[in-house]
Amino acid sequence: LKQLGGHKVLSWFNSTINLIGAGQMGGAMLKGWLTMGLRAELVGVMDPNPPANMRLMLAERNIPHTNLHPFPFAMVMAVKPQMARAVMSDVKPAASPDTLIISIMAGTTIKNISDVFGSEQPIIRTIPNTPSGVGRGITAAYANEFVTFDQKNAANALLSALGPVEWVEREELIDVATAVSGSGPAYVFLMAESLAKAGIAAGLPENIAVNLARATVEGAGELLFKSPDILASKLRENVTSPNGTTHAALQVLMGENGLDRLMTEAVARATARSKELAS
Ligand SMILES: NC(=O)c1ccc[n+]([C@@H]2O[C@H](COP(=O)([O-])OP(=O)(O)OC[C@H]3O[C@@H](n4cnc5c(N)ncnc54)[C@H](OP(=O)(O)O)[C@@H]3O)[C@@H](O)[C@H]2O)c1
Repeated sequence: LKQLGGHKVLSWFNSTINLIGAGQMGGAMLKGWLTMGLRAELVGVMDPNPPANMRLMLAERNIPHTNLHPFPFAMVMAVKPQMARAVMSDVKPAASPDTLIISIMAGTTIKNISDVFGSEQPIIRTIPNTPSGVGRGITAAYANEFVTFDQKNAANALLSALGPVEWVEREELIDVATAVSGSGPAYVFLMAESLAKAGIAAGLPENIAVNLARATVEGAGELLFKSPDILASKLRENVTSPNGTTHAALQVLMGENGLDRLMTEAVARATARSKELAS
């Protein structure tokens, strides 16, 4: 499915899609779809107050921002989770029982969505992440049993506007994905902060420590990106000579109370919080 759906071009697409909420995430998706060749007339947008850059892009493409297609192939829900229920109830009349509902709303469950649209509605629940704003996100997705093969395939293509898509087989794994990739960018930013603080503590001037740490995180991320076939552990080994400086640091970071333990605990807490927010 990943291969089948990994289309980078959406010009083949000829069904209508409604986007509800054209903010940061919804806007990034729409921008991606249009860049990938989706015809503007197929997109209906509902957002009473889109951000200025989005308003401009919609105007340039002649897409009104308060106009939904009736009974579209898919409806993408991209409003804040707090307003999910009210907004879903508002837009429900535009959906048919076959309309695929794709939600990118954190903590909004299949049940929350089917409570509004109906118990047999095809629904896909996803969790993207913020690097999608620069075309480098990753999305985890779960499809309920009413989603057909063709719907899943089309959703994969639409979601690939934000980056690769990983499908999970059980909805509860969306909570774990939320803790890993949804919240994950913050952990990496923290790594840059923490490395800078350690450099300052060891004597570097603040601006130099901050620049060194930041560029290191950026560069290491780029190396990972440019080496898709090499495991992170292999890249780490490649820069670790026996008994060298990196080795000395990794003995701390990979020690009993090191990063694995902290990260496992952090992900477990975030997973639990995601479940709590969804209940
Ligand atoms: N940002 C992330 O990293 C991230 C990651 C994973 C998942 N998500 C999920 O993505 C969803 C959207 O997040 P976001 O960061 O893109 O939020 P956002 O920038 O606030 O976008 C939501 C948009 O919906 C608009 N809106 C408000 N009321 C509406 C209505 N009644 N009908 C249609 N649109 C309405 C908002 O307008 P106003 O600004 O005027 O309210 C805003 O333009 C959230 O559910 C979030 O959980 C976000």
